[in-house]
Formats: sequence, C-alpha cells, structure tokens
Amino acid sequence: MQEKINEIKSNLVSDLEVVNKPQDIVDLKAKYIGKSGCITELTKNMRDLSVEEKKTVGMLVNEVKNYANDLISKKEEDINTKILNEKLANESIDVTLPATSIKAGSPNILEKVVEDFEEVFMSMGYDVYDGPEIEEDRFNFELLNIPKGHPARDAQDTFYIKDDEILLRSQTSPVQARVMLEKGGNEPVRMICPGKTYRRDDDDATHSHQFTQIEGLLVDHNISLSDLKGTCDQIAKKLFGEDTNTRFKPSYYQFTEPSVELDISCFNCKGKGCNICKNTGWITVAGAGMVHPNVLKMCGYDPQEWNGFAFGFGAERCAMLKYGINDLRVFYNTDLRETSNFDRKEND
Ligand code: DAH
Repeated sequence: MQEKINEIKSNLVSDLEVVNKPQDIVDLKAKYIGKSGCITELTKNMRDLSVEEKKTVGMLVNEVKNYANDLISKKEEDINTKILNEKLANESIDVTLPATSIKAGSPNILEKVVEDFEEVFMSMGYDVYDGPEIEEDRFNFELLNIPKGHPARDAQDTFYIKDDEILLRSQTSPVQARVMLEKGGNEPVRMICPGKTYRRDDDDATHSHQFTQIEGLLVDHNISLSDLKGTCDQIAKKLFGEDTNTRFKPSYYQFTEPSVELDISCFNCKGKGCNICKNTGWITVAGAGMVHPNVLKMCGYDPQEWNGFAFGFGAERCAMLKYGINDLRVFYNTDLRETSNFDRKEND
C-alpha cells in the first residue's frame, strides 16, 4: 500500500509539472481525487480488511488525499494568477487615446425664452401663474367679454371637448379671469402666465395647432396706457437688447379698450428694413391693451375704482426672432443638431 501511495505521489508531482491550463486541472482532479480517481480506488477493497488494517489504510489514504488536494489547489491558483496577469498586461489602457465624446443635451430654446420672460417679469414684481389647458368656455370667452354667439369667437378656431362648455384653451387670457376672481376684487394684481394654447390650425412653418403664449395682467388704481408702454419697453429692451425701440399700433380685442399691438424695432436691421421685418423696420410681438371695464366687473373688480392693462406675447414668435429660426416646427422636434446650433448662436 505504502508503495502504491509513493507511486501516486511521484506521478502527481510529475503530472503537475506539465499542467498549464484550467482544463488540465479538471483532468488532474478526475485522475487522482475524482470518484474513480486512483486515490479513491485505494479504498475499494477496504471492506475485506480487518478493523485494524482499515484504520491504517484509512489514515494513509486520507493523508495522500490531502497531499493531492493541496498540490492541485496550489497549482490551480498559480494558473489562475498567471491567466489574470496575462489578461491585465494585454488589456492595458492607452491613456493618450482621445476619449469618446458624450453628447450632452441642451435646453429647448422655446423653454429658454419663456424662462427669460419669467425672470424679467419677476424682477418687476410679477407673480408667475399656471392655468388649466382644458378650460371652461366661461373663462376662455365669456368672462373676457366674448359672449356665446359673438363673431369674435370665430377668429379663434377652438377645439371643443364637450358640448359648448369644455374646450382646449385658445389663449392664455382665461388665467386673467381666474386670478382676478381668486383675488376677490380688493387687491392689486400683477401676474404673468406662460402656457400652451390650442387652435384648429394646419401645421406649417409659421402655424401650429399648439403654441405658447405669455399672458400678463396688472390691475391697480390709476393705471394708464403709458404704464403699459413703459412696461413693454422695459421688457423688449431686456429680452431683445438695450437698443430696441417699441411702438403701439391700434388694434382690437374684446377684452381690452383701447387695444394695441406691440411692435419692436427690428433687431436685425435696427429699423432700416430687411427681410425679417419685411422692410418695415418693425416686428409685432404681442397684443395688449387696457383691461375692458366689463371684464373687471365680471371678475369682481369695480371699474370705477380699479383699472389695469393686459398683454399676450407669442412665445414661438419671440424665440424665432431672437434666434433667427424660420420654421417653428423645430421647437417641437427632438433633433439635437438643431438645438446645439442654437447654443452656438447664443455663444457667438
Ligand atoms: N389672447 C390674445 C390672442 O390670443 C392676445 C392678447 C391680446 C392677450 C391682448 C391679452 C391682451 O391679454 O390684452 O391673440
């Protein structure tokens, strides 16, 4: 038996000398300590031995088994370490190679313009309000002095959702009525409300069934048209540049009297005339006016005591002018090449 064991040991040592890959280790385990390995074989005829002999053989077999296990595990570890080192050496990183660039997103240019408006108005003491896009006819029209059946409704091709009562707001002006009613008729109002509006329009370069307005309302005592003009002038200078001039053109809205359109001097040609301003030197950016006494009254303010002005800017139009965009559909697509171009313009 001892002889056999010695033989196994020396075979194992010489076998170990030539193994160099994980599969060799698997084979070696099978050959020596596996179910039908030669060390396990030694215990095969144990049942014919005496108790005393069993004890001795058992000890010898255990000893050689541990010996084989130790040597094989050690070899296995060496092989794994060698493989790992080779892998690390081959996979070394060349830090001088240029990195793959990670494309960062950029803010939507329309949102940015809306944020600019908010910032300027907040600096002038205005609060920023939000209102529902699914609106009641009452707020969108009636409280703004546009009763049912009035021809002024036709100009706003409205999406009705339920009967004649629930609609997608066609303007942000209903938020004026909401805020006045909320205030209860006895405190001044100074608010803007940017938001989405909807009209049944075909989509093309300058029209969209969904667009963005920035509504504004100021109600107080002894407000005049010159307050509105001064406010618009400040806003235009802050948003379009200090050398921007403004003018009012007469206009008509049901909810303001008098009503005006706000023009800014063309920032491109500085008023000389170019294709952006269609050679007029001026560009229209908002509708505005003094709040109609009927609107004040319906919304809980006594027109003998209170008055004010209101305005509505077209956000897409402002963004298109500011960034020289000639198709408003770019605001609603997600092409990063377009938005990063705007960034570049901004930094020029
Ligand atoms: N709501 C108007 C529109 O959609 C814009 C507007 C004009 C808003 C005059 C106002 C205003 O608040 O006073 O065309």
